[in-house]
Amino acid sequence: MIGFIKSGKLAPSTKLPGSRKLSEDLQIHRKTVVAAYDELMSQDWIESIPAKGTFVSKNLPIIKAKEFQHLPDSNTHSTVGFDFKKRDHLFIKGIEALHAPLKVDEGVPDHRLAPIEDIAKNYRNIANKIHHKELLGYGDTYGNLNLRKALVSYLNQSRGLKTTVDNILITRGSQMGIYLASQLLLNNQNTIITGNTNYMTADNTFMEANGIIKRVSVDDNGINTSEIASICQQQKVSAVYVTSHHHHPTTVTLSAERRMHLLDLAQQYHFAIIEDDYDYDFHYSNAPILPLASNDTQGNVIYIGGFTKIIAPALRIGYFIAPKEVVDEAARLRRILDRQGDTLLEQTLSRMIMNGDVQRHSNKVRKIYKERRDLFCNLISEKLDNYFDFKVPNGGMAVWVRLKQPYNWDIVMAEALKLNVAFNPEWRRYDNDNSGHNGIRIGFAALDKDEIRTVINTLEKVMERI
Ligand SMILES: Cc1ncc(COP(=O)(O)O)c(C=O)c1O
Repeated sequence: MIGFIKSGKLAPSTKLPGSRKLSEDLQIHRKTVVAAYDELMSQDWIESIPAKGTFVSKNLPIIKAKEFQHLPDSNTHSTVGFDFKKRDHLFIKGIEALHAPLKVDEGVPDHRLAPIEDIAKNYRNIANKIHHKELLGYGDTYGNLNLRKALVSYLNQSRGLKTTVDNILITRGSQMGIYLASQLLLNNQNTIITGNTNYMTADNTFMEANGIIKRVSVDDNGINTSEIASICQQQKVSAVYVTSHHHHPTTVTLSAERRMHLLDLAQQYHFAIIEDDYDYDFHYSNAPILPLASNDTQGNVIYIGGFTKIIAPALRIGYFIAPKEVVDEAARLRRILDRQGDTLLEQTLSRMIMNGDVQRHSNKVRKIYKERRDLFCNLISEKLDNYFDFKVPNGGMAVWVRLKQPYNWDIVMAEALKLNVAFNPEWRRYDNDNSGHNGIRIGFAALDKDEIRTVINTLEKVMERI
């Protein structure tokens, strides 16, 4: 009926049939008609006039959003009437979004594969249950208890952690975990060690927390722990940030020897290891190496991860795992920034972990991404070997590709854009120190096989042209 009213088939003030007549015409129970009329009346679509009957409302609820008659002059908001702090370290120069039919990212999941039906089904089911209404109120800053319980078994089984519900804070994605850890550890111009090069957003987060970043080199075995030892001998270090499973950006795995060395150093010099395990689920060649957190006997590791890479970036659920005292402090800090997470979504995810949906989906996409990695790498070897240096990554969603001399990514990307393929213009951020390594991460996971072929064919044309 709302549809008929909106489309004008039922004009304002039209008299509607009585409930008995309508129930006979539609062959439905009279109570159903009465309930529908009540609902329509509560939404002001229809009105009841005593002794006359039921009518389409004379004054219908607003159907179309009112158009603004006077759009403000676009300059109005460029004037700021107060002072505020601008952060140079958050400003990335020369970055503007590029528009092209095919966009190549730096390694993000393919959101087209997200199990949205499963999520919607579980979410609806939970939202409909009367005993879940309490989830709509203010809840636990630490995150939904069922999700924390589900995570304990999920992470302990799949990653060899020995965590408990008290050691977990649910966050909005890994990034919130990195932010909280930085605020707890770095506030007083404390030193944090990262790889050269490193995940740029993490660097920005450390700077925002007033940390001083010291960089050590990264080779085929990951971040160089001997260099970390040398720095520790000279000064106090508060934290080391590692993406141990696949170093961001170069995708290498931190070797077993260096893992043990790093844990030893953390114990000896009392620093925290911020282990950002952003893509643990994506390993293609062998079983994944267990996180540092699984060997942390002295409480040195803050383990950060999430579901944004397995499920979809827009579903912001991550976790921050640490000794209880640290988790408690992080929760207090989180509370003043974001009172709590999306409890219904958290409950949904807990159900999807417990019934195996998450694990099934993760296995499915791992297989698809492996095929994409293989196709992508085979095509680069076949067609672009003269121009590119790269190693097949044993996991993750991107390949670290360096251009051989004398080629230059700026020119390659400008030419590719003319052929309708846009690379992420933020690539420069991987060379913060202007070392000239000329490498970029090219994401393969979010491209289907045809898109991969188009990207490689385009690059081939571009390189030949250049
Ligand atoms: C290394 C690394 N850490 C953390 C994140 C942030 O992930 P989330 O979306 O879970 O906040 C990303 C996102 O790309 C990443 O690449």
